[in-house]
Amino acid sequence: LEQTLVLIKPDGVARNLTGEILRRIEAKGYQLVDVRLVHAQRDLLAAHYAEHEGKPFYEPLIQFMESGPIVALRISGHRVIEGFRVLAGTTDPTTAAPGTIRGDLGRDWGLNVQQNLVHGSDSVETAERELALWFSHS
Ligand code: GTP
Ligand code: MG
Repeated sequence: LEQTLVLIKPDGVARNLTGEILRRIEAKGYQLVDVRLVHAQRDLLAAHYAEHEGKPFYEPLIQFMESGPIVALRISGHRVIEGFRVLAGTTDPTTAAPGTIRGDLGRDWGLNVQQNLVHGSDSVETAERELALWFSHS
């Protein structure tokens, strides 16, 4: 069965949305396999966001992700990688569809797109790489 990494970003944890986001994941039928609360260090975030290094939003994104605790989830399910990204909605909460996590719960109107509540891996290869980064402890 496919697995993916979901991160509840610092805005989601700070706004007490962890339970609501988990509820949506479980309601969809995905299985929770592992969970961690992490105040991420810069090296972990740099590895996680290596593909974005050099982009204009890279530094603010890393600073935001360092700003508070993150809930990391390992979840499994049928085509969960693509399915969770549908559940999350598009990157910018401004235009994310109603019914999605970002569309329903996103409160960031344009200024800080990085504050979009959740992250989900975008491919099988990315999921394996990211799960190894965030769940490397045994
Ligand atoms: P993730 O699931 O978090 O990876 O979101 P995504 O796949 O929809 O977006 P992408 O991988 O392209 O970007 C990663 C994260 O960087 C996004 O979730 C945003 O938090 C942030 N980001 C992406 N594009 C922008 C941008 O143009 N401006 C800002 N400020 N942040 C951005
Ligand atoms: Mg991405």
